[in-house]
Amino acid sequence: MPATCVVGLQWGDEAKGKIVDILGDSHQFVVRYNGGANAGHTVVWGDRTFKLSLLPTGVLKPHVTSVIGNGLVVYPPRFMEEVEQLVKAGVPVGKNLVLSDHAHVIFPYHMEEERLAEADADAKIGTTGRGIGPCYQDKVGRRYAVRVGELLHEHHLETRLRQIVPFKNRFLQAFGGKSFDPKQLTDEYLGYAEKLRPHIADTTRVLQAALAADKDILFEAAQGSLLDVDHGTFPYVTSSSSLPSGIWTGTGIPSRHVTRIIGVIKAYTSRVGRGPFPTELDDGPQGIGERIRKIGREFGTVTGRPRRTGWLDSVALRYTASLAGADEVTVMLLDVLSGLEEVKISTAYTLRGERIDHFPSDAYELAQCEPVYETLPGWSEDLTGCRKPGDLPAAARKYVDRIGELVGLPVSVVSVGPDRAQTIHLK
Ligand code: IMP
Repeated sequence: MPATCVVGLQWGDEAKGKIVDILGDSHQFVVRYNGGANAGHTVVWGDRTFKLSLLPTGVLKPHVTSVIGNGLVVYPPRFMEEVEQLVKAGVPVGKNLVLSDHAHVIFPYHMEEERLAEADADAKIGTTGRGIGPCYQDKVGRRYAVRVGELLHEHHLETRLRQIVPFKNRFLQAFGGKSFDPKQLTDEYLGYAEKLRPHIADTTRVLQAALAADKDILFEAAQGSLLDVDHGTFPYVTSSSSLPSGIWTGTGIPSRHVTRIIGVIKAYTSRVGRGPFPTELDDGPQGIGERIRKIGREFGTVTGRPRRTGWLDSVALRYTASLAGADEVTVMLLDVLSGLEEVKISTAYTLRGERIDHFPSDAYELAQCEPVYETLPGWSEDLTGCRKPGDLPAAARKYVDRIGELVGLPVSVVSVGPDRAQTIHLK
């Protein structure tokens, strides 16, 4: 059975959660393949809002098996907290949530490492502070990493932490940070292990079996393609492969099974954290950037930080859509642009006086790019009540069509509000 992937084509926060939620109805498996609790997925069902940062969005649907793949880094207290929140809200969570025994475990020393690194004003990336980068560093460094499955073996875990924690402490102390007690950490994490145990499995086998049984699988990317560690705006990226290329390594499912890739974009651009952003609207408290931030509620789901906002950038989108292998795009938050006299889309850049059409993903090159804009008429109508293509004012429809032309892909969905009902299917 072919699988589908939903991936953000900007710097994250493209409202992927809504698309995954809608598609989740027709899938039996929803799988996360990268990142950790740095993601922020918001799902609105009528008057109920669910905010997930680690668990797959599919967990809201009891008929779906939600899988946290081996490509993730997991902080057990966060896992338990999100499960408890759902249970409290009456959403059953049990065997329908599966956690890979090969996912990596985040410990408090990872967060301390991150805190110390981010305190360096010059080297700061503007991370979410959830220990993501240091945990992935340990994964690729191998010596000091702990996988979820290792938490289930008391003696083994104790031995591992007795090796790891003193090394971490020496390093942390050298930078004036906190140190940790291996015995205390062992006891704490053995406690978590009992809560995680019912969910832990070899998820590669679970997913291979699902494929063999012709189940419908939906892969849910976290972060956006411009935050991909290899192809994003390095070094201002996250530490994992957020592009669909992460599916194979992050779950064990070969990419040839993924036959539909849906690229999710906002009708404008936003970014949290540091790094170049050519179309940023840094135009003061009365400016369009602030207006978009307010109307679009552009504040981080994980950290609450105000997001930087700006015009849509089709140079960046062509780059990420081709890397992602996207078949179609969905345009989210179109309603936020209502009331503007005109709207702009960047169609090229000027770099050192020359016009370029490609996206330079190195931060130091991108920082020197000036956007070349195409200006389109805006619309004054409120779009939040639109339900079908014909409800959209002509200027809004023209804007959407132009996005499709510039990106070179069909626009399949337009979203005009957070609720599931506020969704227009174009094809
Ligand atoms: P980290 O993933 O916490 O290491 O942060 C690295 C960069 O990615 C920072 O700029 C974060 O703000 C950004 N980031 C991480 N996760 C997300 C997300 O889900 N949405 C948007 N930005 C994110």
